Amino acid sequence: MPEPFYITTPIYYVNARPHLGHAYTTIIADVASRFNTMRHADTFFLTGTDEHGDKVVQAAKNENLSSRAYVDKISSLFRDLWPELNIKYDHFIRTTDQYHIAVVEQILQRIYDSGDIYFSEYEGLYCFGCERFYTQRELVEGKCPDHDTAPEIIKESNYFFKMSLYQDWLIDHIKKNHDFIRPERYKNEVLSFLKEPLEDLCISRPKTRLKWGITLPFDKDYVTYVWFDALLNYISALGYPDGDLFKKFWPVAQHIVAKDILKPHGIYWPIMLKAAGIDIYKHLNVHGYWNIDQTKMSKSLGNVTEPLEQKKIYGLDQFRFFLVKDMTFGLDSNFSEEALVQRINSDLANDLGNLFSRILSMAHKYFNGVVPETDPEAEEELKPGLEPDALTAVEEFEKEMEIFAFHKALEAVWVFISSMNKYIDVTAPWVLAKKKSAKNQLKTIIYNLLEGLRIISGMIYPVMPDTALLIQKHLGMDVSEPFYTFDRLYAWKRLEPGTKLLKSITLFPRIDLKKIKADIKRQTEAGDRVFEIKPEITFEELAKIDFRVGTVVHSEAIPKAKKLLKLEVDIGEKRTIVAGISESYNPDALTGKQVLIAANLKPAKIMGILSNGMLLAAVDDKVCSIATFDKKMKPGISVR
Ligand code: MSP
Repeated sequence: MPEPFYITTPIYYVNARPHLGHAYTTIIADVASRFNTMRHADTFFLTGTDEHGDKVVQAAKNENLSSRAYVDKISSLFRDLWPELNIKYDHFIRTTDQYHIAVVEQILQRIYDSGDIYFSEYEGLYCFGCERFYTQRELVEGKCPDHDTAPEIIKESNYFFKMSLYQDWLIDHIKKNHDFIRPERYKNEVLSFLKEPLEDLCISRPKTRLKWGITLPFDKDYVTYVWFDALLNYISALGYPDGDLFKKFWPVAQHIVAKDILKPHGIYWPIMLKAAGIDIYKHLNVHGYWNIDQTKMSKSLGNVTEPLEQKKIYGLDQFRFFLVKDMTFGLDSNFSEEALVQRINSDLANDLGNLFSRILSMAHKYFNGVVPETDPEAEEELKPGLEPDALTAVEEFEKEMEIFAFHKALEAVWVFISSMNKYIDVTAPWVLAKKKSAKNQLKTIIYNLLEGLRIISGMIYPVMPDTALLIQKHLGMDVSEPFYTFDRLYAWKRLEPGTKLLKSITLFPRIDLKKIKADIKRQTEAGDRVFEIKPEITFEELAKIDFRVGTVVHSEAIPKAKKLLKLEVDIGEKRTIVAGISESYNPDALTGKQVLIAANLKPAKIMGILSNGMLLAAVDDKVCSIATFDKKMKPGISVR
């Protein structure tokens, strides 16, 4: 019996709707979990939502909802999305669940009793924008890297966790367990961070400042810092300390996160476990970031990619395949519809789809749609045939999947697909079909090809479960049983001669991106899409946005960015603003133009440039038109 398998995603903050980034991590976890079912392992796949903290309170206020109503609403957006993406998790945890809160209290109390949590007055550099303390070395030229403002020195009494006590132990653990954090670049990043002395972690927030959190069991005037609460989900979900799930799955725990949250997972979490006397997780698997058209995904740029939209246009398995194949696990990747379409047309429609329909059509044409019998003599003559390539592919696939090199695992499958296509070209069944004496050879070749398809369908199962099933149905297999397990994949000649095959279909229609874009445009114009106005807001809410007249003083293209311009705008003071308008405007044409600016939008870094404000524009497909004024106004005048 193989080792059980426990996989987790980060629990996502409920201050934003789920997007492509969240979908990627969760799909990867699903792929890993399905892969382990292929080995008959007992698997447990955990995901969920992280619901406490300042950000949530703020987001709830912005929507005029209570924190509770707000977290319920956003959490269910995540929970409802995953089945739509064919993601089969075993449990969905919310940090507002009572059983989770009880575990957080228990662990806090335990670490407090052991003396690793102390109370102290802290004077530090506090950024009110981020609502957190910064250390000198985290600042950029003395300023908060997110807000570009100098933090203020504030004094506050709080509880601290003695992380520093465990620094040497952690370094040692990481060095001794070479793949504890993988891929290696992230292990090195953590080790390099640990070269500097670790500061103790402030694990409380006074209730005077924040109430939406788990009250410290040893001081009712404080709530728990959100990371100390959130990380514990990985054990509370298993019924820590006595649950059977905990006993079975915790010793094999593996986490998946992106590089943004490497530090809490690679440093705080193992130290918290150690201090609480709990075994450390087995692997931390870290992936890179998806950018969109070479730019960071962000609401203000309007490039947040919605997974359901992609599924609707391109198909679910196509979307899953692209994400898994196009990201080298560990590195950043770029998402664009052009790249997605390119992959669908080449890897799926041309390679796999064509192979499938070629083989089925031949089986129908030459053998009336029935799996033929192989002939031992012909088998000998045709050696080595497809079997060795198939088994090499399965071996390679299994090895790469195991270490989370998903893109390489798929590469192994595609190498085999190309061997199959070559096999057809070399053996030329259409020539043999004309010779009566070659009947046995033809039978053997078509059998081998059908068998090769069966093996491919097994290997693509974790990434494209629907397509795998469809192929198997066409091969006339009994799909009520799991058909994709490794014991079956490794055994050549599982297909029963005499089985009736279904008629070929187009597995992956070729996609014409231009046509899709034109269709969407037409539908929009025809009002096919629901004309959706955002929920009503009050005058006071609208008045929160500080709109100003701005005069563009200077503008320039940003190297490597496809759509972005960097503008210097006078709004009574000089502002740097990054705007995604370069497809419609030359930088030169903008100088002197008067534009409409939202001046109090939280600054954000875009392509390494801090953008302080937003320029308003209407965007219709690729055409963009900026909002201007029809009379000359003084820069900085308020717009009401
Ligand atoms: N709540 C914390 C995690 C606590 S886990 C104990 C959090 N939440 S989050 O909503 O911000 O999610 C971050 C995670 O979402 C990333 O680590 C990654 O898994 C996924 N991604 C979000 N944006 C992403 C990309 N642009 N690209 C790839 N993955 C990204 O941090």
